[in-house]
Amino acid sequence: MASPAVPFFLLLLFAILSNTFADPDLLQDTCVADLSSGVTINGFVCKPSNNVSANDFFFNGLKNPGFVNNSLGSLVTAANVLMIPGLNTLGVSLARVDYAPGGVNPPHTHPRATEIVFVLKGKLDVGFITTANVLISRTIKVGEVFTFPKGLVHFQKNNGVGNAAVIAAFNSQLPGTQTIAATLFAACPPVPNNVLAKAFQIGTKEVEKIKSRLAPKK
Ligand SMILES: *[C@@H]1O[C@H](CO)[C@@H](O)[C@H](O)[C@H]1NC(C)=O
Ligand SMILES: *[C@@H]1O[C@H](CO)[C@@H](O)[C@H](O)[C@H]1NC(C)=O
Repeated sequence: MASPAVPFFLLLLFAILSNTFADPDLLQDTCVADLSSGVTINGFVCKPSNNVSANDFFFNGLKNPGFVNNSLGSLVTAANVLMIPGLNTLGVSLARVDYAPGGVNPPHTHPRATEIVFVLKGKLDVGFITTANVLISRTIKVGEVFTFPKGLVHFQKNNGVGNAAVIAAFNSQLPGTQTIAATLFAACPPVPNNVLAKAFQIGTKEVEKIKSRLAPKK
């Protein structure tokens, strides 16, 4: 028979793990972010509840397509805690991604969230790569849904003839994005050329060529 300490230990482990699977849970009804506060905590401090209004929970920035006339042919419009301060401590956010024909949302990861997308318009070739280096991919079209597990590198490409768009949902108020190419080749200060040359098994000239084409991340 197991010692009584074992179930307690498992319960404790579960409690700890369940808190690391997504954003920490909230401790009150709302905690509308005071984005102007200089106090830094994990998340944002709450503004006084007598200064909270419906606008803190509202955003109309996803209703129109984003401009896709850029070098990638895609644009991500985020709807996270930075635009919707009422999302602070709630553990969810959205984004809209628009794609020109041929446009790509290049390989990237969200360190703090799983993503699930709903296709609003067009069709997309989507995929993610597991830690075993297996590509899981397929085509999705209007009305369909696809999931990108937390932390895994993923992408979407519009190989259709018309524009495409998705609404993406995340289980984090601020999922964060690391775009692989920009992270490695446009970091500031830069990642040393010799590190990238060795990692990609190419010459430093090729590294410099890639760096010159990727503007530093803002
Ligand atoms: C209420 O919010 C406004 C606008 O964000 C700010 O200027 C004001 O100082 C706030 N008042 C209080 C009492 O926090
Ligand atoms: C993209 O299109 C918009 C709207 O037509 C325009 O305002 C913007 O300057 C364009 N951007 C580029 C990089 O061409």
